[in-house]
Amino acid sequence: MSMKIGKVLTVVLVVLILIQLIPGPSHENPPVTGTPKWDSPRTEELFKRSCANCHSNETIWPWYSTIAPLSWIINLDVSVGRSKFNVSEWGRPGKNDGDEAAGELRHGKMPPWFYMPAHPEAKLTAAEKDELVKGLAATFGDKSAEKEKKEEK
Ligand code: HEC
Repeated sequence: MSMKIGKVLTVVLVVLILIQLIPGPSHENPPVTGTPKWDSPRTEELFKRSCANCHSNETIWPWYSTIAPLSWIINLDVSVGRSKFNVSEWGRPGKNDGDEAAGELRHGKMPPWFYMPAHPEAKLTAAEKDELVKGLAATFGDKSAEKEKKEEK
């Protein structure tokens, strides 16, 4: 029995070592090609704290972001996050869903829950959250509030 557990652990360890050899994408941040006109420096500051790691080209990559399989999850989050909404490529053609940002935050969908334990700085007080929702709406518009208003009528 214990021999079996030893074998399983050895296999897990070997696999963990081997997956480190799979090359990941570079963590060099792409250039900033456009920025939105923030309604206030405070909105930008709160966004930087809570959202910018996945929604800008100014990602701060933590040391563990190079260790597989964590790196795979982090790389995916940043690339999918940037593809949907990127404040460093404001004005680019294609998808850039700023007008959904206020709604995502208001409904507690962003930042993703699994991001929070390792990023205490991203946690907003109720007052800060309210400030950021209003700032995002003022900067990008607020699609979900418009929709909810229509549904009330
Ligand atoms: C850990 C990375 C991460 C952080 C931090 C993060 N997001 Fe996201 N965000 C994503 C990913 C991944 C997606 C795409 C998948 C999804 O919609 O759930 C996304 C999607 C979005 C979208 C597009 C929604 C859509 O359906 O098109 C908006 C808008 C958004 N996030 C806003 C925010 C705001 C505002 C914050 C900060 C309060 C934030 N995000 C923080 C990773 C992140």
